[in-house]
Amino acid sequence: MSFLDLVIKTRSCRRFDQKPLPEGFLETLVKIAAVCPSGKNQQPLKYITIDDQDFMKKLYPSLRWAGALTDWDGPEEHERPTGYVAFVLDRNISKSAGQDVGIVAQTMQLAAMEQGIASCMIGAYIKPEVTDVLSLDDSKEIMLILALGYPAEERVLVDVEDEGITAYYRDEKGVHYIPKRTPETLLLRHI
Ligand SMILES: Cc1cc2nc3c(=O)[nH]c(=O)nc-3n(C[C@H](O)[C@H](O)[C@H](O)COP(=O)(O)O)c2cc1C
Repeated sequence: MSFLDLVIKTRSCRRFDQKPLPEGFLETLVKIAAVCPSGKNQQPLKYITIDDQDFMKKLYPSLRWAGALTDWDGPEEHERPTGYVAFVLDRNISKSAGQDVGIVAQTMQLAAMEQGIASCMIGAYIKPEVTDVLSLDDSKEIMLILALGYPAEERVLVDVEDEGITAYYRDEKGVHYIPKRTPETLLLRHI
């Protein structure tokens, strides 16, 4: 697969097959995080990997799914992620994670998709609840949760039409469409 094809395939996924993640897979994602770029090379992010069923049941109610799909409350129990990586800022190292969260998250998403494993960044969560469930002390701050699992939904890229509406949507068969602006509209100029 070309790199562009991998990026195209790496779409957010919110409904998952319940087949377990491969042994050691979440640890591999942390190995990948450890060699990602980091502002000032401070590397202030730490990670909590989760695939324990009981723990995932405790975490799930604090997560918010697909804000644009107002008539959908999130994955049913048999569609939920089979693993998570929580991104935690170690405030003893730095008070800010800078751009590191996005860099690591997308790198992990690409690495996962290369193995056929889909994911969704979750930035919308009830912070005090997640802080409590993960038992984070004052020196640690939750920054992002990456939900992972084998995909059980079709995701399709479409061009943003003239009206410029970028909200994602689903058709009657449950196919998830993601409008993207075209490269021509993104490129301001070539100098
Ligand atoms: C920083 C960030 C936070 C996100 N948080 C959520 C979230 O809380 N819940 C959710 O369902 N999707 C979340 N997403 C996924 C976006 O909705 C998704 O990236 C967007 O719809 C485009 O789809 P694509 O990832 O397939 O390109 C987040 C994405 C990013 C980059």
